Amino acid sequence: MWWPLRSRRDRDRSSAGLRKLADACGVRLGCAVSARGLDADPAYRETLASAFNLVTPENALKFGPLRPTPDTFSFGEADAIVAFAQEQRMEVRGHTLLWHKMNPSWLKPENFTRGELAAVLERHIKRVVTHYKGVIRTWDVVNEAIGGTGTLRPSPWLEGLGPEYVTQAFRWAHEADPGARLFYNDYGADGLNRKSDAIHAFLEELVAENVPIHGVGLQMHVTLGSEPAKKDVAANMARFAELGLEVQVTEMDVACIGRPTRKMLRRQARVYEEMLEAVLGCDSATAFIVWGLTDAHSWIPYTFPGKGWPLLFDEEYQPKPAYWAVRDALASETRG
Ligand code: XIL
Repeated sequence: MWWPLRSRRDRDRSSAGLRKLADACGVRLGCAVSARGLDADPAYRETLASAFNLVTPENALKFGPLRPTPDTFSFGEADAIVAFAQEQRMEVRGHTLLWHKMNPSWLKPENFTRGELAAVLERHIKRVVTHYKGVIRTWDVVNEAIGGTGTLRPSPWLEGLGPEYVTQAFRWAHEADPGARLFYNDYGADGLNRKSDAIHAFLEELVAENVPIHGVGLQMHVTLGSEPAKKDVAANMARFAELGLEVQVTEMDVACIGRPTRKMLRRQARVYEEMLEAVLGCDSATAFIVWGLTDAHSWIPYTFPGKGWPLLFDEEYQPKPAYWAVRDALASETRG
């Protein structure tokens, strides 16, 4: 039976159970958050802490927000998220040490020699990883480095440091915290396609060169109707696992085109369920993370006008069919 036919009492009881079910399955069930969201609304904090056992700062750890000037590290927002997580005994996943987007305006390759830019990146990575050592144990080190054609995409890092910036970034993160799990993270590479082939080949090389990389993040930003097939996602996870890598679904959302009908919500629920089943079915897959708490907190409508309603909770913090599907998938896993 689908929401909204369930009573409010059922919903409330079950909502508190989601996190417990995830714990019982040994899966990290995570959510991207902002410090503003945490500050603004008690319902945000309550829903977050009752449904998830992991948080990841949506933007607070990105280079731009952290580094307003070359000499400043503004840890305030990320520290607030970490403090909340510790209070609620939730894990924190670090996103991301390096990306081609959301960089500060002072970070222009032409402002630096190659050696200077390398020093900027090394200092950034080591300072940030050290600041959260022992607290953030998993990091996206490199985000979205591969473009649609399967080669390294243009970025200040590629332009200023050449292709070896990827390897260097992993080594510097590892030096700062040898115990941290270090990930490569990307979108559009969830199933089997040209991009996931290219990422697989790229990571295979890194592993062969003994670069300290431990995992791959499949972002799983999908649009309803063009989501990858479960069997392709499972096969993709399996081939990364064969490289000895851990796999995590790191940023899942399922965007609807136009305000969703009940049928669309059911279909969205099915996509969440299938992707979670792929995680639960893969021994090397350890996390399932959604990119925002409610449909009111999603980046999708701002970035892709006309699309939206992609998450587990609606604008009023009510669980959607997708929420129940996630819960059912966890419950059937617990029953074994
Ligand atoms: C997005 C955030 O959700 C937005 O708030 C921000 O304006 C842009 O970045 N892939 C990623 C994430 O790795 O960091 C992006 O997050 C979404 C796509």
